[in-house]
Amino acid sequence: MKRKNGLAAVPEVNIRQMRLEDMPRVFKIGQQLFTPERWPTLYRAWDEYEITELYGTDDEFCLVAETERGRVVGFALGAMMQKPQSAWRYGWLLWLGVAPHYAGRGIGGRLVHHITERFIEHGARMMLVDTDEENTEALEFFRQQGFGHEVRHIYLSKNFVHHPHYRAWRAAKQRARARRRRRVLTSQVVRGNAARAKLQRRRHH
Ligand SMILES: CC(C)(COP(=O)(O)OP(=O)(O)OC[C@H]1O[C@@H](n2cnc3c(N)ncnc32)[C@H](O)[C@@H]1OP(=O)(O)O)[C@@H](O)C(=O)NCCC(=O)NCCS
Repeated sequence: MKRKNGLAAVPEVNIRQMRLEDMPRVFKIGQQLFTPERWPTLYRAWDEYEITELYGTDDEFCLVAETERGRVVGFALGAMMQKPQSAWRYGWLLWLGVAPHYAGRGIGGRLVHHITERFIEHGARMMLVDTDEENTEALEFFRQQGFGHEVRHIYLSKNFVHHPHYRAWRAAKQRARARRRRRVLTSQVVRGNAARAKLQRRRHH
């Protein structure tokens, strides 16, 4: 079946909960999509910790799209949030990605559909997504999925390089690393000496 954009839909793609063994593949797809060069102002960083943390705390909101052949080609990672001093719960779709080769075939839409159902089943009254404002494709996609009420945020940042606490923390870390290296070297020397002594003893016999 062909879609409006002429690409064939992929009906055999199954959406299921992410498993531990999917993580390397999910990480790899994200690496292709969320590069700092592509989205320099994206305030969240795509790294292994992001996936493992979400999987550890909110695994029911970690979904993958898998082809019939068992290849993971997309993911949706979210979390359930609660506003402070409010009974309102909302679902936050933090990361959504479809491998470039599979884009435009309805997989992103299906991932959003499934994670929406999960949020609702867990008591969410609304859903939040955010993306870089220059990511026009994703904005179009989300609008098409029924998202609106767009609010612009300003993110400010501060580099810690000159912060005294950061400098002290880095120096302590470097000292600890140097101590560890010295310990390893000493133990190698001790082991080397012991081996030499053993060899000499053997020669004397
Ligand atoms: C955004 C993304 C998840 C969409 O997934 P997808 O599988 O390609 O999307 P779908 O095929 O389900 O598209 C559904 C609809 O969204 C719209 N859409 C999707 N991609 C679009 C694009 N590049 N430009 C304009 N509209 C687009 C279309 O209206 C489409 O419906 P149609 O094909 O019937 O016209 C995917 O392109 C992606 O991984 N992008 C990079 C990562 C990213 O920006 N993630 C979102 C922020 S975390």
